[in-house]
Amino acid sequence: MTMICLNDFEEYAKQHLSKATWDYYEAGADDCCTRDDNLLAYKRIRLRPRILRDVSINDTRTSVLGMEISFPVGIAPTAFHCLAWHEGELATARATEAVNTCYIASTYSTCSVEEIAAAAPNGYRWFQLYLYRHRKLSEQIVRRVEALGYKALVLTVDVPYTGKRRNDICNQFKLPPHLKVKNFEGMFQEQAGSLEEYGIPANTLDPSISWKDVCWLQSLSRLPIIIKGILTKEDAELAVEHGVQGIIVSNHGGRQLDGGPATIDCLPEIVDAVQGRVEVYMDGGIRTGNDVLKAIALGAKCVFIGRPAIWGLAYKGEEGVREILQILHDEFRLSMALSGCRNVAEINRNLIQFSRL
Ligand code: FNR
Repeated sequence: MTMICLNDFEEYAKQHLSKATWDYYEAGADDCCTRDDNLLAYKRIRLRPRILRDVSINDTRTSVLGMEISFPVGIAPTAFHCLAWHEGELATARATEAVNTCYIASTYSTCSVEEIAAAAPNGYRWFQLYLYRHRKLSEQIVRRVEALGYKALVLTVDVPYTGKRRNDICNQFKLPPHLKVKNFEGMFQEQAGSLEEYGIPANTLDPSISWKDVCWLQSLSRLPIIIKGILTKEDAELAVEHGVQGIIVSNHGGRQLDGGPATIDCLPEIVDAVQGRVEVYMDGGIRTGNDVLKAIALGAKCVFIGRPAIWGLAYKGEEGVREILQILHDEFRLSMALSGCRNVAEINRNLIQFSRL
């Protein structure tokens, strides 16, 4: 099979993963309107290319939180990489280290934060955090990732409860017994005892989470805090007022609230509200270099990919994730050149045909 674009990896993963695993990765909430619109929304946007600008050299590098990365695409946190490839998150970590971009390791990793750090000692990593009813658990994991050199805490705020994913219910999706949410191995023993569907006890996420918990997290750690899951200018403003360092515009890949907007459609109002006071990133539906270009033109500092990284893993582990990133890199560079941009700083809103939106 010749892998030319990300859709080829999606097709491969669909054919080679078990139905329950494929369904889990692919799932959106309810009717999947938001999941699907995340992709379609990019296709509604048209570009205004500039010509005759000597694009013989194209520099795709950028920075996030002051750290240089090779191009503005990182890996979003997604759960259970061992379901897609036996080495799981170790492969993802090595691939992102090789490509020199940012990997946000999920709380629900099937390798521990220690194993991930050891697999790619020079990789640039952030850690994605949920807040638990038992704050001690959150505190312990924050201490661990700080000590391991993870460079930021990404607090996911769009999961007070898990969205309704019909196929997962139908399949009674569970982690197979040989896989564990390694970050919490042995930590729940004093509690209810029953290991729930994800290998962790039921009701561990705290639906009472609010802005005061952001302050609590700040009191706990000096790492930069990035809020993942903001979709409105009002919440972006609150995030800035609470002194966080970054925002990820995200609807969890359409897996939480169905009927919410596509992330690329929310980006402009959030960028306008924030006015450069913190970095704004986004995820959801990025499948081509062109999508990346549009997101950067609309003000994202960097974008993150969720499902495509999993398809890369399913295809060939570390090598597959590298291929995914390489294809996106090459497509992005070509789109930049064809629209007359020589470096990332030259990508701005003039590139977007607003009259069509
Ligand atoms: C996710 N996402 C997610 N987010 C998070 O903060 N913690 C997590 O553990 C997970 N787990 C997870 C599993 C799977 C299978 C998917 C598809 C998604 C959401 C993820 O970080 C991101 O927001 C979306 O995946 C981005 O959309 P695309 O790129 O998948 O379209």
